[in-house]
Parts: sequence; C-alpha cells; structure tokens
Amino acid sequence: KGEDNHVPRDPRLLRLTGAHPFNAEAPLSLLYDTGFLTPAAIHFVRNHGPVPKVQDEEILNWEISIEGMVQNPMVLTLRDLISEFTQYTVPITLVCAGNRRKEQNMVKKGAGFNWGAAGISNSLWTGAMLGDVIRKAKPHRKARFVWMEGADNPANGAYGTCVRLPWVLDPERSIMLAYKQNGCLLEPDHGKPLRVVIPGVIGGRSVKWLKKLIVAETPSTNWYHYFDNKVLPTMVTPEEAKANKEWWKDERYTVYNLNIQSIIVYPENRELMQFKDINSESNETYPVRGFAYNGGGIRVGRVEISLDRGKSWRLAEIDYPEDKYRDAGIFELFGGEVNVCERMSYLCWCFWKIDVKKIELKNAKDIVVRAMDENMCVQPRDMYWNVTSMLNNWWYRVAVQSEE
Ligand code: MTE
Repeated sequence: KGEDNHVPRDPRLLRLTGAHPFNAEAPLSLLYDTGFLTPAAIHFVRNHGPVPKVQDEEILNWEISIEGMVQNPMVLTLRDLISEFTQYTVPITLVCAGNRRKEQNMVKKGAGFNWGAAGISNSLWTGAMLGDVIRKAKPHRKARFVWMEGADNPANGAYGTCVRLPWVLDPERSIMLAYKQNGCLLEPDHGKPLRVVIPGVIGGRSVKWLKKLIVAETPSTNWYHYFDNKVLPTMVTPEEAKANKEWWKDERYTVYNLNIQSIIVYPENRELMQFKDINSESNETYPVRGFAYNGGGIRVGRVEISLDRGKSWRLAEIDYPEDKYRDAGIFELFGGEVNVCERMSYLCWCFWKIDVKKIELKNAKDIVVRAMDENMCVQPRDMYWNVTSMLNNWWYRVAVQSEE
C-alpha cells in the first residue's frame, strides 16, 4: 500500500473507498459554491489502481502510439502533439457513471461503492482534438472504434476502453487529448501528463495517463471495457452477474452518452430549517438551488421541482454559463474547418434556481426535482436498479426538516 504517496490531495475531498485506490468527491455544497469551473483540487477522482509516477522532466517526452486499422501508424510525443496540432481550450463537464449510487445501494446493494451526487466536475481542458490526430493516421474505411489504453496497472491489467470513431471525427463532440486543466499541467490524479476527455459521455471512457490509441472495427476487448461501465438488465443480480460472463460481453449494455440529470444542492437533505416565525401570511422565501446536465451534447431544456411528490410541478430558471464561453469564441474547432459559431452542442453543466415560499416548504415533506432535455427525455420517477448502479437519474429528492 502507499503507492500513491507521491500524489498531492486536497483534504476537503471526501474519500469514498479505503486508502487505495483513491476515489473521492467534493462536498456537494462546496462543488456548487465554487461555480461553473471546478478547480482541479476538488474535481472528483475515480482511480482503479495506483497513479503512475511521472516526473516533470518526462512530460514533454511522454509518448503515445496510434495503431491498428490506420494507414499511418504513429508514435507521438506530447511535444509533437502540442507543436503539430492546433490547440484548443474547451469547458467540459466530466461525470462518473456511478454518480448517486449511494441511493441505490440503500435500497438494494449492487456491485459498486457509494457515490453521492458530486461525482461531477467541470474544467477548461486544453490540448489537441483526438479527431485531428486520428485523421492524420488515416483510418481504414471499415474502422468503427478507437480503443484507448492508460499507463496505469490496476488489478486486471492496463485500464482501457473505447469510443465510436464517427464521434471522434465529429467537431460537435469535441473529444480531446488534454494536457492542461484550468490552465495548469494535469495533476497526477487527473491523468498527468496526458488524457482523453470525452464530453457528454460517462467519465469512464475518458482514459487517463494515455499511452495507446488503437483504431479497430470492433469494440475494445480490455477487461475494464467488458466488466465495467455497463447497465445490465434489472433482473441481473450480483450473483448472476458473477456467474454468467455472457451478460458483460453484450455490447448492447455498454453505456456511452450520459442521461438527463438534475440535483438539488440547497436545501441539503434534512437541512434544519427555521420555520418558527413563518405563518400563512409570510412572504419569506427560501432559495432552492441546484445544477443539471445531460449527455451527447444535448441541451437541458427545463428543470421542474415538486413539493407534493410529483402531483404538481413548478418551473425553475436555468442559467447556462457555457453560452458565455461560446460567445467569447473559446469553442474554436478543427482549425477553421467548421464555422465556430455554428457549433451547437452543450458540453457542460447548467445551474437552476427557484425561490419557494417558506410557508410552502413548512407544509411539504420533501422537494423533488426533474429535468427534461431538448428531445423530451425526462428523468424517471422510479429507480432502474442495475447491478453496477450506473446512470442513476430518477427524480432527485431532499427531505425538508423543520428545527422545531
Ligand atoms: N483512466 C485510467 N487510465 N484509469 C482509470 O482508473 N478511471 C475512469 C476514467 N479514466 C480511469 C481512467 C473513470 S471510471 C472515470 S469516472 C474518470 O477517469 C475519472 O476522471 P477523474 O479522476 O479525472 O475525475
């Protein structure tokens, strides 16, 4: 143990597992209060094994290979990536597929450890577009996937997975090879010196400490691609999932795009509220606040809260700080191949707010929230129990508790 002694860590992060590997999220209110950009120090961390040790002198000489179904296999150093490819800086939200797993484990334990609702963070990532690099390698006409592999060595071999090749080549998807987070070189926990960042897709596909890119016709055969980041049918129990590996090899259950989600930050669950002086004449309000996000670049269209468990709903106001970045032209892509202003995808979280009369809260048992996206996909009322407990997006609920 102690393999990660070289990694600096912020004491405010809440550890979710034992000493090793390191998995952590920030307190929800700290994450929200920090605003649109999350500092690296409190960005959630999901590691499957020890963090590779990379000295500062080695950063620019870090090598990645691009191989498989390409006409021009290559080995590139980070120096080459920076000097030979257009560099971009893009705000991107990463989310762990296990976000909110704690709620499911309370109902019926699945296979994974507890995440609260803060397995999400948003940063400005800087680097080359993966699509530019893959294009230069000239993928074969029949190629469909890009496999990615890291330099770490967790229990079941190097961490690896894949993403669809057409997405990699699509400017709207903004899939990056990033070496900077919020203007600084990557921290060890977040992939120092180089990682993949895939917006709108579960964090598990954004491979850290990147070493290898393999262009292929079929999905990755890496252990972590098979046995992680899948939503198996609800009747598959932990015992059945262990006994029958066929479930895991079925690519239909692999999750890529995130689903629509909204979280209440204020009030906190069971936050003690002062209702003593509140009567039916009182106009005093409580600022109910939270955030929402979605996958696949699709905008969150509306956020609604209910004080009567879904009998009636009221609309919250949404703020998309990402639009300001878009207006500032920070989304420049693919060296001018597309008109930058025409890029429409939404890659970041948004914030919602609604002021509610305290007298109404006093009479309510809880507050629930749900979001709907532009495609009219709405968060479900009920839990979809699944053995890995991933993409947990049923209505988010906080209990209202009075101080008396
Ligand atoms: N890449 C490697 N090489 N090893 C890992 O353990 N974890 C994945 C992904 N990339 C992982 C990895 C998972 S499950 C998530 S959610 C994200 O990294 C988390 O990224 P972060 O720790 O920078 O927040």
